[in-house]
Amino acid sequence: MTGLLRPVWMRRQLSGPWRWSGAGWQWWLAGPDGRQPARCLDDYLHHDDSSAVVQLRAKQSRPRWCYRIDDLSGPEQHWFAKRMVLSRRQRPGALLGLSHRWVGLAHGSAEFHHALMLSQRTSLGVTMLALGERLESGMPAEQALISEWLGEWTTFGHALASSPGARRVALMSALMEALRQLYNAGICHMDLHPGNLLAPRARPGENDRPLQLKVIDCARVSLKAAPDAATAIHLGVLIHELNGKRDGLDPVLEQAAGHLLRAIVGHPGPAVERLLSLVLRYSTKKPFSRHSLIARSPERLPLDRIERELREMIARRPPQTIEPVMAGPELAALIETALDQAADIPMR
Ligand SMILES: Nc1ncnc2c1ncn2[C@@H]1O[C@H](COP(=O)(O)OP(=O)(O)O)[C@@H](O)[C@H]1O
Ligand SMILES: [Mg+2]
Repeated sequence: MTGLLRPVWMRRQLSGPWRWSGAGWQWWLAGPDGRQPARCLDDYLHHDDSSAVVQLRAKQSRPRWCYRIDDLSGPEQHWFAKRMVLSRRQRPGALLGLSHRWVGLAHGSAEFHHALMLSQRTSLGVTMLALGERLESGMPAEQALISEWLGEWTTFGHALASSPGARRVALMSALMEALRQLYNAGICHMDLHPGNLLAPRARPGENDRPLQLKVIDCARVSLKAAPDAATAIHLGVLIHELNGKRDGLDPVLEQAAGHLLRAIVGHPGPAVERLLSLVLRYSTKKPFSRHSLIARSPERLPLDRIERELREMIARRPPQTIEPVMAGPELAALIETALDQAADIPMR
């Protein structure tokens, strides 16, 4: 009966539900490669110990765990898993595969679906292998996502901070390419901060080769945003964080961000430019809802009111500044160098 309530994408693209043990978990596989890691995690969740599963860290603020699953049967191979407890509000959305604030936005079903979509529409996706869930009264109460292992990758912020000049340019070019792909695919990630973009670790002699980034943590993705507004939000959030989350913004950095926006979307309207300027300047983290920035077309957004709201929020909370990844003018110069290099490459 519950099977009929599951979303079409789940029934079409995944096989399942599979149940293997008395752990109370059921599994949906995106392909045969998901079977082994799903069985390992199922076993771990059943017995609470398994030499094949290593807990990486637990987030204190939310009931959420990350694991590395090891293939003990053959050559060194790992998988990555993320497990989350769902609030009662999120459960209907997780069951129906709907991502909406009324039935739950950021559950495992949404994240798995968005990550699959990202892989289908861009080259930025992580290969998703299996989705597990523990049901209570027929509704998912916990979910687990299993994907390929990217332990050798590092976050974009860390890669930028720790790389020499030539690789920084390659990283910035890769970021431009990632933003362009999201724009072309009509995907707004909604939380594209420098920790949700992964970059491959540098190998000797590889400094100026084109790099490919991966986008993770896709729970809140929206497909309904105007693509130019989505790009402004992506760029604004990324640069705000790389700039150390400070309210002040160097004018050359704002200018470089504007150039980057234009390189991707062509001719943004004044509302989109203003949107970029707001997201660059102010923290748009909770309790602010970034969804309010895509609820209407950019021209119809009450941007004056939104700016007032953002200012008031900042005034009410302690400063959240961190060490910037690079000084504003240096980051601006890096963006301009990557743009100049891209201009020298003929368009495909
Ligand atoms: N496929 C993966 N392989 C290895 N580590 C990963 C993978 N995906 C994410 N991680 C690590 O786990 C961290 C958290 O993942 P993320 O999906 O961003 O969860 P959260 O919602 O907790 O931010 C990442 O910053 C990264 O260090
Ligand atoms: Mg994250």
